[in-house]
Amino acid sequence: MNKRYDVVVIGAGPAGYIAAIRAAQHGLKVACIDEWKNKDGKNAFGGTCLNAGCIPSKTMLESSELFHRARHEFKQHGIKTGPIEVDIAVMQKRRASIVRQLTNGIAGLLKANKIDGLVGHGKLLADKKIEFKPVDGDVEIIDAANVIIASGSSPIELPLAKFDDENIVDSWGALEFDAIPNRLGVIGAGVIGLELGSVWSRLGSKVTIIEAMHDFLFMADREVAAVAGKEFRKQGLDIKLGAKLTSAKVGKSSVTLEYEDGGDPKTVEVDKLVVAVGRRPFTTGLLADDSGIQLDERGFIVVDHECHTQVKGVYAVGDCVRGPMLAHKGSEEGVMVADLIAGESAEMNYDIIPSVIYTAPEIAWVGKTEQEIEQTGRAYKTGSFPFAASGRAKAMEQTSGMVKIISAQDDDEILGVHIVGPMAGELISEAVLAMEFSASTEDIQRTIHAHPSLAEAIHEAALAVDNKALNFPNK
Ligand code: FAD
Ligand code: NAI
Repeated sequence: MNKRYDVVVIGAGPAGYIAAIRAAQHGLKVACIDEWKNKDGKNAFGGTCLNAGCIPSKTMLESSELFHRARHEFKQHGIKTGPIEVDIAVMQKRRASIVRQLTNGIAGLLKANKIDGLVGHGKLLADKKIEFKPVDGDVEIIDAANVIIASGSSPIELPLAKFDDENIVDSWGALEFDAIPNRLGVIGAGVIGLELGSVWSRLGSKVTIIEAMHDFLFMADREVAAVAGKEFRKQGLDIKLGAKLTSAKVGKSSVTLEYEDGGDPKTVEVDKLVVAVGRRPFTTGLLADDSGIQLDERGFIVVDHECHTQVKGVYAVGDCVRGPMLAHKGSEEGVMVADLIAGESAEMNYDIIPSVIYTAPEIAWVGKTEQEIEQTGRAYKTGSFPFAASGRAKAMEQTSGMVKIISAQDDDEILGVHIVGPMAGELISEAVLAMEFSASTEDIQRTIHAHPSLAEAIHEAALAVDNKALNFPNK
């Protein structure tokens, strides 16, 4: 007889494993299938996020920033150092160890929640049956009352610059370099291009980034993007905007890139090339022809606002469905779906999902940009506060950037909060919570913020919206 579960989750990334845990918390019998294999050949739960994305990238960002600060900032604090060097092997060992601890932690969490963690490939058949092919063992068919697909995404490959895992790599390859490339090329000045470009630039690579769009960080508020772009160029990132890659020729140990910059042909030679031009939903080998699941023209699994597919009892969450490809978006969808399956009411607020880019300075925002609000025609007011006027930021020697708040002219509703500066990724949570509770700017103005703290910059920006800033001249 086939094994039977209340819920079978395919994929144990942040969308899938969180959905599995929440479903188990409801007392449901749950299995979570995952086939992820790391470069050491070992299987691990946690998906892209833990193994090749959020966690290893933040680990390398932290290590490289410490190196950069020790070299360039310590002397301003009156701290003398001898020569400072990078031991890349130790740095990479630390990254791998953090990843291992966290992925083992997920295996432990599944076990603690009495979830069957099944290592191998899952394929959805008709009638909510799943064909499970374990890494070691025979194929079996599993019956599920409900299925949650959380199969994630994979990097987009450029036909002109195909991944070869040696000279031309994706973001995962770029996280695991065992030597610092002297010259690093990056295609795409998006989130990955900037984060990983920063990592290797701080460690000593000369980084050239080729970006097709003319606007830098087109998805961010223009003012914030301008501040960030200036800072990154100051740090040495050579960002070519409006540039078109025309060829990538792999030599013995380098790649020659030809590109058009403002119509002019240009050439640059790099030791390694990272292609980071976006990701696409991953559904290879996932769906039997008669599974009934539909994909849209870009390959995303078609779902409604509750992540329900066209097949009753089959849901899909995370990167494989529409919306931003962010771990926290996938996790919240997982929670919503598990709650719905358990008969509870649940919903996702897609309008209030924070975005963070973990560069230095960090960039974070929630809600709409000023340009998006302009397009809606709604009257608005803005207020900003520069970190240069923040005592805490000065003490930290991190005064670049600002907080900008945009609110509705009529009812003072907060429409968007945009931060570029120190710890922007932590600071944005206050704005997310405020917007989730439909706070007005005045609510933030009347909230007591600890002194001295970076969060005071949010308080002052809220005051500035009504020309009431206390620690900076008003407009
Ligand atoms: P995934 O994490 O991709 O997990 C899907 C899992 O399903 C995988 O383990 C896969 O092996 C498995 N799977 C797929 N198909 C099958 C099948 N048929 N059978 C069995 N198993 C299957 N997001 C953030 O929010 N913050 C960040 O700081 C951040 N940094 C990132 C840095 C990098 C370099 C990258 C590449 C991404 C980053 N992201 C970040 C994005 C984030 O990693 C993804 O949004 C997130 O991992 C998506 O979660 P998911 O569960 O939908 O899919
Ligand atoms: P992205 O969509 O952020 O950026 C891709 C960039 O490549 C864009 O600027 C695009 O204009 C450019 N591009 C596309 N084709 C090109 C071409 N042929 N030549 C030159 N430039 C080209 O995608 P990215 O950086 O690959 O990241 C993928 C996803 O991973 C993102 O959607 C993001 O949500 C997620 N992620 C999130 C992080 C975070 O939350 N901090 C960190 C890293 C990734």
